[in-house]
Amino acid sequence: MSKAHFGLIGLGVMGENLVLNAERNGFSSVVYNRTFAKTQEFLAGRGAGKQIVGAETLPEFIAALERPRRILMMVKAGQPIDDLIATLSPLLEEGDLLIDGGNSLYTDTERRVAELESRSFGYIGMGVSGGAKGALEGPSMMPGGTRAAYDAIEGLVSTMAAKVSDGPCVTYIGPGGSGHFVKTVHNGIEYGIEQILAEAYDLMKRVAGLDGTAMADVLGGWNQSEELASFLVEITEVCLRTKDPETGQDLVEFLVDAAGQKGTGLWTVESALNMGVPVPTIYAALNARVLSSLREERLKAAPLLALSAGPRFDLGDPGDGMPPLRDACILACIASYAQGMALLQEASRLHDYQLDFAAIGQIWKGGCIIRARLLQRIQDAYTFDAALPNLMVDPWFLAQIRQRLPGLRHVVAGAALAGLPVPCLGSTLDYITSYFSGRLPQNLVQAMRDCFGSHTYERTDCPGSFHTEWLP
Ligand code: 6PG
Repeated sequence: MSKAHFGLIGLGVMGENLVLNAERNGFSSVVYNRTFAKTQEFLAGRGAGKQIVGAETLPEFIAALERPRRILMMVKAGQPIDDLIATLSPLLEEGDLLIDGGNSLYTDTERRVAELESRSFGYIGMGVSGGAKGALEGPSMMPGGTRAAYDAIEGLVSTMAAKVSDGPCVTYIGPGGSGHFVKTVHNGIEYGIEQILAEAYDLMKRVAGLDGTAMADVLGGWNQSEELASFLVEITEVCLRTKDPETGQDLVEFLVDAAGQKGTGLWTVESALNMGVPVPTIYAALNARVLSSLREERLKAAPLLALSAGPRFDLGDPGDGMPPLRDACILACIASYAQGMALLQEASRLHDYQLDFAAIGQIWKGGCIIRARLLQRIQDAYTFDAALPNLMVDPWFLAQIRQRLPGLRHVVAGAALAGLPVPCLGSTLDYITSYFSGRLPQNLVQAMRDCFGSHTYERTDCPGSFHTEWLP
């Protein structure tokens, strides 16, 4: 029997869909799952009649693969990956290649790449985005590791990936854990955009009094524009339009208002804090999820302050796309991308990843959760200037900020007076206003630090380090 081109371990939804994708693209496959019953079920169901065989044991699995073996691991991030590597590696031969396609912590991937490469195996940490549908039809993939290891899987991943006008949505990201780092930041941006749209929903409902269908119509219009056309806006429209089959009312109103998370948003913020990169919009999205999950506490606290709805304010004509609200959302989305890209730039510098920011914009244009028409502008911005200090100073993005800042200010100020929380929109306004300020009040912070701790300060009018005895 001829050997399989490709091996997959872990038949969760993502794993199943990725192996079906590989097989559809001509890569005969062998699959292994910890419980063999799951493998049998898959082979009798979705995997039936395909160039896919099952293995009951790992030695059988390894024996069924052509060399060098290309093995995609789709198992839970963390210890399960280390355990699997420990079990697999005695069975591998020189040049065989392991790919971790889960959402692993990039520092774990750094360690695994070094360890496996030192034993003459290849190791790729690959972010895969697009959810179940993307995995099947074509995800965006972010592989990192050695160039040689990537070369060995390029044919496979470039066939499996989503395609946009200028190529497949996959590229060699860089060495070590860079692929997983880029995927982590992708998710941080995803958190930001999801929260921005949730805030827009809250304002449309509580300030403008729109119902789900009317809100969906506004989102549908936004999805036609260059600035907001995106997968997340598209699915938000669908979520808002969906009715509860029992009551016929907007289904979203029956969902508990406490958001979960699996860790990548937190890792984005942790990395940003560690690397000294401001990511306030993304951070606000993460905090908003955490605060929302304190639901029991919130329910007890609510009557204590009995916040009454403040004055309504004008969010613009829904038939015209609610211009100030649309402007606020556009700028907050731009800020999320700008913060994510700035974080990637700093990580690239610190770890010498040599990231290609234009290429990252390109592979995010299709397949992934944050795919958006705006990514073409991001790709263009970094193609024009690879060393752009911040996306917001690119001429096209700067023009967006100039044009839409009044709308963002209007919405944030109105929400504050109306007593409604808008963490992402508010943080975006602070971010933009601070970034474009030549003078911030941190001179006073420096004075205080020097006053109580002799931390010294610099002066604007002459070089050097100074200390003043501030207290009598
Ligand atoms: C993707 C998604 C995917 C997953 C996130 C969700 O790109 O396909 O990002 O990886 O949906 O992990 O993360 P939370 O559960 O933390 O929201």
